[in-house]
Amino acid sequence: MKKRVFSGIQPSGHIHIGNYIGAVRNWLVNLEDRDNIFCVVDQHAITVPYDPEALHSGTREAVALYIACGLDPQKCRLFVQSHIPEHTELAWLLTCITPMGWLERMTQFKDRVGARRERVGTGLFVYPTLMAADILLYQAHEVPVGDDQKQHVELTRDIAERFNRQFGEVFTVPEPVIPQVGARIMGLDDPTAKMSKSTEGQYHSVGLLDDPDKVRKTIMRAVTDSQQGIVFDPQRPGLFNLLTIYQALTGQENAEIETHFAGKGYGDLKKELVEVVIAEIEPIQARYRELTADPAYIDEVLAESVEKLRPIVDATMDGVRRAMGHR
Ligand code: TRP
Repeated sequence: MKKRVFSGIQPSGHIHIGNYIGAVRNWLVNLEDRDNIFCVVDQHAITVPYDPEALHSGTREAVALYIACGLDPQKCRLFVQSHIPEHTELAWLLTCITPMGWLERMTQFKDRVGARRERVGTGLFVYPTLMAADILLYQAHEVPVGDDQKQHVELTRDIAERFNRQFGEVFTVPEPVIPQVGARIMGLDDPTAKMSKSTEGQYHSVGLLDDPDKVRKTIMRAVTDSQQGIVFDPQRPGLFNLLTIYQALTGQENAEIETHFAGKGYGDLKKELVEVVIAEIEPIQARYRELTADPAYIDEVLAESVEKLRPIVDATMDGVRRAMGHR
């Protein structure tokens, strides 16, 4: 039996090189030897104010773009969270056994809610129990995520263990899998904050669908410092970030890269990085255009995924409902 991998994808077509390096490329490595399930989390997306039409089109764009990146629908299941209503059913059941104190400790909630506590939707607070439901519904063994999501996967383990103790062994307890290199690609306009889909600012990130001119402008304007020498020095976050992206996309060793840029300046590194990034995203953009030329294709992929996942969902929910006394 292959190990089962589950991960969630935010429903936006504006996928950037931080997502690509930190997440997507790591998933591709395990496409053959794992049973992979990837979920576009359109119900997590509604925990903050949003536009329904933009959510719908963003969800479809994300599916097409992930396939274009190499998530071949023959080799993995790619589906949309709201197409399987058991996610929210299980989320409610898990919410009832999750102490509020556990959720109050979630650093992402604390960071995001700030002073708006009186106004944010309760969904933002219970967000992690929906995420736990996503993972536990499929009895996943491994959950590849960026380090900002590690705490949520650990909470999922705690919830699964608590459930199993209280109601009997129903859930597989999952492990978080955090990538070694490129886990944290930082913003190009501010190398002290993680590259994010929600950060405004024209030169914050390079999107996978950006044209070459935009890629060039963003990388050439990337914030660095006024020191000299191209070396992997975490004390120089702007430079370190550019080198991390370069390293991840070329696969070269750090020493090899430092030798290559010996005696050169930031301008040289940036120019080469522009070429490396464009070469990586051009074929993805070509495949994306092909896939989206036929709108029915994405619908077919999504419908087939739901059909294939149905038996797993039914088996888990049958066990959960019985264990909890809903018979
Ligand atoms: N919360 C994750 C993020 O913001 C997305 C997500 C939702 C997820 N459900 C998941 C990730 C289940 C892994 C497993 O990136």
